[in-house]
Amino acid sequence: MKGLSKKQEKFKWNSDYSVNVKEIDDQHKVILEFINSLNDKVFNGVAESFIGKNLREMEEYVERHFVMEEKYFTQFNYAGAEDHIREHNAYKEKIKKFEQNSIKAISSDDPDYIFELISLLDLGDWWVSHVLYHDKKYSKCFNGHGLI
Ligand SMILES: [Fe+2]
Ligand SMILES: [Fe+2]
Repeated sequence: MKGLSKKQEKFKWNSDYSVNVKEIDDQHKVILEFINSLNDKVFNGVAESFIGKNLREMEEYVERHFVMEEKYFTQFNYAGAEDHIREHNAYKEKIKKFEQNSIKAISSDDPDYIFELISLLDLGDWWVSHVLYHDKKYSKCFNGHGLI
């Protein structure tokens, strides 16, 4: 598998991304690190990592993260829960499609595979905007219930 010619910028957590709940901020940091590690592997042309260990590890972590956020939505009767859960589900669909397509592309040696890799590179942007526009909205509600 050939690497990409342009190296992806590293995603770095900064205090603008804070949702004001330490446990959740810490998880967002870990997720950005997962993405950086995947991006490095794309750049270096390590194909196996996509359908392999790295992506699955990240997915498992992300799944637990979503479950936790959604558990708090229920617990605190969060008004924005429905829209937020829809966002989480759309993300899970995106990952599932990516995995199916990359398995197909690898087994058929399809050059379109590169586009699948590029779609993976969007993950960091997805996360940054999800945290900024969706996760940050629950801060007030979560903090109001004593979660900090
Ligand atoms: Fe989150
Ligand atoms: Fe979220």
